[in-house]
Amino acid sequence: MSRTSHNMLDLIRHLPKEIEEAIEFDIPDPWQERPDIIVFSGMGGSGISGDLTKILLESTHVPVVVHKDYGIPSCVTPHSWVFVTSYSGNTEEAISSFEDAIKIGSKIVVITSGGTLKKLAMKNNVPVISVPSGFPPRAALGYLFIPVVNFLKRGGLLSEDIDLVKLVMFLKSQSKALEEMDSIAHDLAEKFYLRIPVLYASRRYFPVVERWRTQINENSKAFAHTSALPEMNHNEITGLLNPDGVIEGFWAIFFQFPDDHPRIKLRIKETIDLVSGSVMGVSLFVPKGTNILENIFYTILVGDYVSYFLAINYNQDPISIPRIDELKRRLSK
Ligand code: PA5
Repeated sequence: MSRTSHNMLDLIRHLPKEIEEAIEFDIPDPWQERPDIIVFSGMGGSGISGDLTKILLESTHVPVVVHKDYGIPSCVTPHSWVFVTSYSGNTEEAISSFEDAIKIGSKIVVITSGGTLKKLAMKNNVPVISVPSGFPPRAALGYLFIPVVNFLKRGGLLSEDIDLVKLVMFLKSQSKALEEMDSIAHDLAEKFYLRIPVLYASRRYFPVVERWRTQINENSKAFAHTSALPEMNHNEITGLLNPDGVIEGFWAIFFQFPDDHPRIKLRIKETIDLVSGSVMGVSLFVPKGTNILENIFYTILVGDYVSYFLAINYNQDPISIPRIDELKRRLSK
């Protein structure tokens, strides 16, 4: 893939290849000492990589914190592993996290394509995982996520059984069908058009629907809402009534992952039954794949295509993000 290519459809198609390339990236040697806490710091298209890694780390005994803010959580110590991810290397919240983690003396890894963060890391002898430059951060998810998985595998915090090569083969086998006119991606982009997509998943898989929301926000320039089960069963389920003229314009989609708790599956079934009369429509999404990682990335790939087709429906350029760029420009003054 050319570094100057700015065609979002090509970038979405590139995801399996991107993962394949990222498997080969040089990664630093993990520390011998196990961490007391693992922190992933980063924003937007970079920050989502930490959210997804946290899903994989669910069964480890080490607490995992995803930090999307300035500074660093107060629980961080010199024994903590802190992953600071910023694709551009110029995101001020990530730089602030890095600076605070340096002050504490934590064990830090920086994942970036360059910028101030790379310079600061080199100055402070902090290991850097360098990723190719020239992509929109949200289209560099494979580059940002895979080396961290490999680092954690090597450090004994993720299972050696996580098969990234099989993931690549699986995604390659799915990609083309998602572009067909009768694909689920086209179907959902039609359903979401001129409606508000409201996206629900279990608490564990919530980051995956957050990826859908942020891709719809940035690629399609459209609003979407997310919420997690079981919590939404204790509040939002009753809110899906008023203002009725607005709620009638919602398209709700429930994501049910194969290893979701059986009670979550029952909650999804009953929630769909209870709310379907209030909203324009409801879909149930059950991801393909034979393991958690394949389920996650299949869902992400579908969502990326949905956001692209929805951008076309709204006649929007999926690459440009003028408001984000303008805000960063104003804040840099
Ligand atoms: O997708 C995007 O462009 C944004 O969400 C960015 O990822 C976000 O603004 C943070 O920038 P960076 O990824 O360069 O740290």
